[in-house]
Amino acid sequence: MLLSVTVVLSLLSCVCGENPAVQVVLTNKGLQYGKHAAADWIQERLSTITFPDITGSVHIVFGDVDYTLTGITIVKCDLPEPSVEFLQNPPGFKTTISDLSIAITGGWRTHFGLINDGGTFDMAIFNVDVTSVVQLGKEADGHLSVSSISCDAQVGDVDIEFHGGASFIFQPFVEHFKGRIRDEIQKRLCPGVEENIESFENLLHVMNVSVDVNEVLSLALPLTDIPIIGASSMNVGLKGEFYNIKAPVEPPFEAQPFTMPDKPSYMLSVGMSDFTLNSASYAYFSAKLLQLLINDSMIPAISPVHLNTTSLGKFIPKLAEMYPDMLMSVLVYAQEAPKFSIQPDAVNVTIKAVAKASVILPNGTQIPVFTINVDSKFSSELWIDDGKLKGSVKMDNLTLTLASSEVGTFKCCSFPDLFFSVTEKLGEGFLVLGTKHAQLVNSVLKKEKVGTFRRTHNALVFE
Ligand SMILES: *[C@@H]1O[C@H](CO)[C@@H](O)[C@H](O)[C@H]1NC(C)=O
Ligand SMILES: *[C@@H]1O[C@H](CO)[C@@H](O)[C@H](O)[C@H]1NC(C)=O
Ligand SMILES: *[C@@H]1O[C@H](CO)[C@@H](O)[C@H](O)[C@H]1NC(C)=O
Ligand SMILES: *[C@@H]1O[C@H](CO)[C@@H](O)[C@H](O)[C@H]1NC(C)=O
Ligand SMILES: *[C@@H]1O[C@H](CO)[C@@H](O)[C@H](O)[C@H]1NC(C)=O
Ligand SMILES: *[C@@H]1O[C@H](CO)[C@@H](O)[C@H](O)[C@H]1NC(C)=O
Repeated sequence: MLLSVTVVLSLLSCVCGENPAVQVVLTNKGLQYGKHAAADWIQERLSTITFPDITGSVHIVFGDVDYTLTGITIVKCDLPEPSVEFLQNPPGFKTTISDLSIAITGGWRTHFGLINDGGTFDMAIFNVDVTSVVQLGKEADGHLSVSSISCDAQVGDVDIEFHGGASFIFQPFVEHFKGRIRDEIQKRLCPGVEENIESFENLLHVMNVSVDVNEVLSLALPLTDIPIIGASSMNVGLKGEFYNIKAPVEPPFEAQPFTMPDKPSYMLSVGMSDFTLNSASYAYFSAKLLQLLINDSMIPAISPVHLNTTSLGKFIPKLAEMYPDMLMSVLVYAQEAPKFSIQPDAVNVTIKAVAKASVILPNGTQIPVFTINVDSKFSSELWIDDGKLKGSVKMDNLTLTLASSEVGTFKCCSFPDLFFSVTEKLGEGFLVLGTKHAQLVNSVLKKEKVGTFRRTHNALVFE
């Protein structure tokens, strides 16, 4: 019985999967841009590649000649623009390089009977075609995986010129054995390609799918599923959940599905649902970090209202009566995790907090005097300017209700000027997706209404 329940449960968890809270869409336009950059990078790297020695033996009129080609280096390589295309099933890429020509140089050694000889050579390799198909997948722990599923390499022709030693003796026989050399080269191309794919896979394997954002939060970004490739774009779904580093717990809500807008004119889009923001909020809340003890020294000197019984006694006469001229403190804490909701025109935040006010007696003892529930709503506008995410925050509603009082009832909304509507620019903003190697060109920030979850489960889309 238990076994069958477990099996059903594990099947359920497989079938349902989990919705990604972050989606990255790479369009064909982005793929072509990436290919161009990669081709430049490969072209640069080619000059530094070292090749293993090629050894073999050829039969010429006099007998077998053992040869070794050493110190092979590329002197010139004109890498033609490769072609890269998405493959849908299985998801992956097909890369083709056609008509590649390479000029290489190196040393030769031959061993023919008792005669050892050597010198240098120049070789030209023409019409090299390489086609590689790579499959994308997901490892159990959410890593992206890449594997080579097919590779085909053809070398059209080679030309070799030997210099030095007794090269004049066997130069005439080049025609006879250059086919062998061409085969040797051809044989080595695909293993070389596969080795590179494997070392990229190893690199992916050791990469962390979770990054520490600050001393409190880590952001988990494992894949939620294998990448989905459509006709002209690839969609990668990531978990996008913030955890408290010290005590990671799952929040009591789940990521809802959202669809990314179809924008073939953009190269790369990153969409984030409000789940990501709410998981960060929950992580702070569950770590009891959303609380603040306010005392009078934190109130600006020019404020007309101060945190003392004389000042607040103007609104709560009994307070001044019972505790004449004493300082006060207020502990403000979140009653529940602040809730973010991404709307088409704004990001709205609802904060339910409690403010507990105490009087500080001359001997330091704190006496609680009243508790107020503080319900507030904020809305913020976000935009990208100069590659930085910027925003403004506006307080839309503040509702104060007296929850309990030791100093008689009073109308708590009659604190004039204590709270006011603010529109605050989020300072300098912060850099979006800018790294040493990649820079967003013409980033546009959009809040997109999506699918059937139009009302509550929307997404921020960075394109
Ligand atoms: C992965 O994370 C661990 C610990 O969080 C860290 O020690 C390691 O350097 C990270 N690896 C990479 C490749 O960032
Ligand atoms: C007010 O709080 C700040 C920061 O917690 C503290 O440094 C300061 O001593 C406090 N002032 C009083 C008067 O308690
Ligand atoms: C209380 O605040 C008022 C200003 O509102 C100030 O004039 C007064 O000195 C303060 N009293 C104490 C005890 O800090
Ligand atoms: C979000 O805030 C805006 C601006 O105050 C408001 O117009 C809108 O109704 C709010 N939406 C929700 C769902 O609370
Ligand atoms: C502080 O003073 C109050 C009232 O005078 C008294 O009840 C309380 O016990 C005192 N606390 C300490 C720690 O002395
Ligand atoms: C503020 O929110 C409360 C409920 O939370 C509502 O009754 C009140 O009408 C709102 N005030 C404004 C100005 O929107």
